[in-house]
Amino acid sequence: MADDLSHILSADLDDADPVIEGTLRPRTLDEYIGQREVKANLSVLLAAARGRGEAADHVLLYGPPGLGKTTLATIIARELGVNVKYASGPAIERAGDLAAILTSLEERDVLFIDEIHRLNRAVEEILYPAMEDYALDVMIGKGPSARSLRLTLKPITVVGATTRAGRISSPLRDRFGATYRLDFYTEPELTEIVQRSARILDVDIDAGAAIAIARRGRGTPRIVNRLLKRVRDHAEVHGDGRVTETAAREAMRLLEIDDEGLDSTDRKLLAAIIQKFGSGPVGVAALAAVLSEEIETIEDVYEPFLLRLGFLDRTPQGRIATEAARNHLAGLGFEIPPPRRAEPDMPSLWTDDPGVGDR
Ligand code: ADE
Repeated sequence: MADDLSHILSADLDDADPVIEGTLRPRTLDEYIGQREVKANLSVLLAAARGRGEAADHVLLYGPPGLGKTTLATIIARELGVNVKYASGPAIERAGDLAAILTSLEERDVLFIDEIHRLNRAVEEILYPAMEDYALDVMIGKGPSARSLRLTLKPITVVGATTRAGRISSPLRDRFGATYRLDFYTEPELTEIVQRSARILDVDIDAGAAIAIARRGRGTPRIVNRLLKRVRDHAEVHGDGRVTETAAREAMRLLEIDDEGLDSTDRKLLAAIIQKFGSGPVGVAALAAVLSEEIETIEDVYEPFLLRLGFLDRTPQGRIATEAARNHLAGLGFEIPPPRRAEPDMPSLWTDDPGVGDR
């Protein structure tokens, strides 16, 4: 591993994020920090498959973006000593595309399908027999003389990833032998990840700086690694390259990352609910329109962490910005109008009673 790293650093590719991202990723379950339960279960599944010399059962990983689904798929293949191919739901457009991928795999290989909930129906139907019976059903001919021919595939492991398990059709979900939910990382776990990444990147970082980055990392390794790189840039340009807590805080302030780790889009989202919709409830479609974002991006990228922070509530009537969110934005100088929902007892137009909501 040190060899890989020195090759990359000596090649002066330290700004090529995909390369660096690759070197920061843990390669084995032992190196992988956090997700303890997932690791424990996965290590049994993999050891058993290895012991039997069989393809491991299909694995479905779900959870917010950036928590390590692709990394885990790569680790699964590595721990099984096989190759992995990476595909994504929207990129596999036709049944024939998937058939071509499936027939190109070697025995026990891993096929990683990101955003598996976005596979279209025709492609999904090719995947069912492939997962269940390692079979490929091909239609020959058209019209009344058409018939189906079943080809045998080598046994493989499908690792599916999705931001939400609820989006997957139940026949597809049923074909996974193991389903693991990835959760946001704790602050100590993220601190450990920052320190590990700093070691790999040869960045000299204070304990306080690592914690400051972890605190603002939204529970997500991908984000703390990105912050670490930006903070390193700042320390190199404005100092001697050492990342102190002061330097880290200053760099993140310039990046407009606040003390809770919210970026400007998070704040815009909360501010829209609070200022334009009386703190809610408001439907996600209206929010998406105000923010010019896709509904799916709001639901999958922004909301999960705001929910986890307790800044947002999802109710059947729509999204609500909580008191904590209102206090947070007030502390940053945002104008906070009174919440509409606290005004169910609006003073009647016909009486002088101010009502309880009029506070
Ligand atoms: N880098 C990114 N994710 C990681 C993880 N879960 N453990 C260790 N290093 C990481």
